Amino acid sequence: MNIKVEPFKNNIGASISSDLKLVDSKIIDQIKETLNNYGFVCFRDQNLEPGEYLKFAEQLGKIKEYPMLKDLENYKGITVVERKEDDKGKSYGEGWHTDSSYLEKTPKYTCLMGKIVKRDQGQTLFASQLASYEALDQETKDKIQNLVGIFSSAGPISVTRLEREAERGTGKSKDFIAEHPIVKKVGSRKALYLSPGHTIAIKDLGEENSKELLKFLFNHQTKKEFQNSFFWEKNTIVIWDNHSVIHSATPFQGRRMMHRIILDA
Ligand SMILES: [Fe+2]
Repeated sequence: MNIKVEPFKNNIGASISSDLKLVDSKIIDQIKETLNNYGFVCFRDQNLEPGEYLKFAEQLGKIKEYPMLKDLENYKGITVVERKEDDKGKSYGEGWHTDSSYLEKTPKYTCLMGKIVKRDQGQTLFASQLASYEALDQETKDKIQNLVGIFSSAGPISVTRLEREAERGTGKSKDFIAEHPIVKKVGSRKALYLSPGHTIAIKDLGEENSKELLKFLFNHQTKKEFQNSFFWEKNTIVIWDNHSVIHSATPFQGRRMMHRIILDA
């Protein structure tokens, strides 16, 4: 059995037709290859129970603990991401970022499944960092080639986590900080690895130069030409490669609940 892949505009993202209850190692390889080529993939109408969802994810990678929020009861590895009817703040993850980039070992993939979703309840935006890196001029590529970013869990995106933590926090979410090269090898290509959500400085560059370069790169990496969006429905699963795309939630009203799994490669 083969999967059917339909790439989105500019080959940023793709939809895949497949029943994720029935995947085997050959299909998992095809899904990984599609992720490698397009950065994120989506699957519609996947009626998976939490146990089946975990079983699928385990075939893609090693399930990683998320230190900020409690797991779904009885299903270790699934984080519940819920916005309540009367929540007032920003949506969780609203603002460009890549997941948990403040950890020493950053998750390769994130899987997100729509469990309670009404019509018009927001999209997730993705921006390809393979495309954004490749569009840089050679001088900038040379300049940033060996630079290291400083990533903090208290970066600007953290405000969107506060309502979730108030309800489901683990209490061990303080002050993660990590350093990573801002140019990352992804297969045979290179990607920009930084984001306005978590990257607070460039190491050894001095405050002014660091600020100026980050401002330039944040503006560059979030340009419309590198983006595609994706709208949510119940039983939709989206998987993205945190090492080659950045993403942002968009605002919406009302209750919405998702199940999230993060994975090491
Ligand atoms: Fe995220």
